[in-house]
Amino acid sequence: MSTTEATVDEIVTACLSMVGLPYDGEPVDQLEHALQCAALAREQHGNDDEFVVACLLHDIARSPAVAGIAYDGPREHHGEAAARWLTPRVGARVAWLAEQHVPAKRFLVATDPAYRDQLSEVSQRTLLAQGDAMSDAEITEFRLNEDWQQAVALRLIDDLGKEPGLKVPDIDSYRAELRIVIDSLSGS
Ligand SMILES: [Fe+2]
Repeated sequence: MSTTEATVDEIVTACLSMVGLPYDGEPVDQLEHALQCAALAREQHGNDDEFVVACLLHDIARSPAVAGIAYDGPREHHGEAAARWLTPRVGARVAWLAEQHVPAKRFLVATDPAYRDQLSEVSQRTLLAQGDAMSDAEITEFRLNEDWQQAVALRLIDDLGKEPGLKVPDIDSYRAELRIVIDSLSGS
């Protein structure tokens, strides 16, 4: 088996271990959430394989096969743990986009007066533990990354991927995007 195929298998296995895993109080499990987010990413930015993979894997640190972080503690955050796991497998850009899904929420709360009210009850509650709205200095720093708008797009998708019973493509359908992203890292 090629290195690429082994990594794809490892990622797919990690995703599958999120079946039945509660998503805080949301009405979908962690795998359904990941697949709904990836499906929305394909619809909106299907030409950006790294973005699709980032949407699929942004909560991968919830997976018991990765870090098993069910709830964020003061010393361990699921976005940072995801970025650490993702960097060697799918590269720094995907890792950064995944890591930013909480900072992007804090950015949107600070810059869009209507955004906070659109958040689910669960997401409004976790926002407080995540530091609430970004400060002006944090906003400036966030915007320095050339991908900041994609990070915001990922966040908005994250907020939508919570529809109970929605039919979306399965995890195996993402092997193609995963292969492209992984192969691009080695320049093959
Ligand atoms: Fe999420």
